Amino acid sequence: MVKDLSVELCGLKLRNPVIPASGTFGFGLELAGLFDLNILGGISLKGTTREERFGNPTPRIAECPEGMLNSVGLQNPGIEALVSEKVPQLRKLYDGAVIANISGFSVEEYSYNCAVADKCPGIDILEVNVSCPNVHGGGMAFGTDPDAAAAVTRAVKAVATKPVFVKLSPNVTDIVAIARACEQAGADGLTLVNTFLGMRIDIKTRRPVLAAGMGGFSGRAIFPIALRMVYQVSHACSIPVMGCGGVASAADVLEMLMAGASAVQVGAENIRDPYACPAIIEALPGLMDTLGIDHLKDLKI
Ligand code: FUM
Repeated sequence: MVKDLSVELCGLKLRNPVIPASGTFGFGLELAGLFDLNILGGISLKGTTREERFGNPTPRIAECPEGMLNSVGLQNPGIEALVSEKVPQLRKLYDGAVIANISGFSVEEYSYNCAVADKCPGIDILEVNVSCPNVHGGGMAFGTDPDAAAAVTRAVKAVATKPVFVKLSPNVTDIVAIARACEQAGADGLTLVNTFLGMRIDIKTRRPVLAAGMGGFSGRAIFPIALRMVYQVSHACSIPVMGCGGVASAADVLEMLMAGASAVQVGAENIRDPYACPAIIEALPGLMDTLGIDHLKDLKI
């Protein structure tokens, strides 16, 4: 029997729930030579700030046996280049859901960037990144306090006509409190989780491996923690959740949907294997068949 892989996200129909996560797939264009992007349910673009950024000094990637650390520091071409170059170029190749990941260093910057992205016809969803651990005075600073996360959400909702998802940090004691604050401030959905703050030390040089000292840890090792947070938030809030964190297989996608996610983002696995998303999408129907699943709705336990 043909399987129905489609899912719905704030009124948008996605051909399947698999979405490369922000920061692991560039602006889509970089991977377009490897496979037809149109197999993807959506694409979350690299986190974008008002001004162009080079990011942090190198080295800013550290491999670990169970995942990876990054301290990229939001390298991006700036919001104007996103809407005038990157998204129009991507739209020539891709007709699925385009998610603009928006970052900032003040509430005003989030609001400005979202207002610009909201006017861009090629963008379907605004994903407000209050969870980047690699910049000072921005990103995660807004996502680790319920009042600050709510303030960003309110400011963005005041200028947005498109669905607003807030991307949450796992570096908190109570992610449900942050999620509820965003929901009450008007968020249409939530993405969770971003990376965990981590560190490695080179025992020969006795120096941190990353030039920035610390970075965000992602990869398979975080899957059970991310899944637990998706489960908790999706049972505490009534807005849709995009599950993210260590997803590396079709089984992981089903597990995230069972935890309560409406769509699933694949992050670090794209860096390990740029064909990860096509492989997961290809494996889904067979696994669904084995498990007696005909469609991906109502899997939440
Ligand atoms: O450093 C970075 O560019 C990472 C961004 C993020 O984790 O959102």
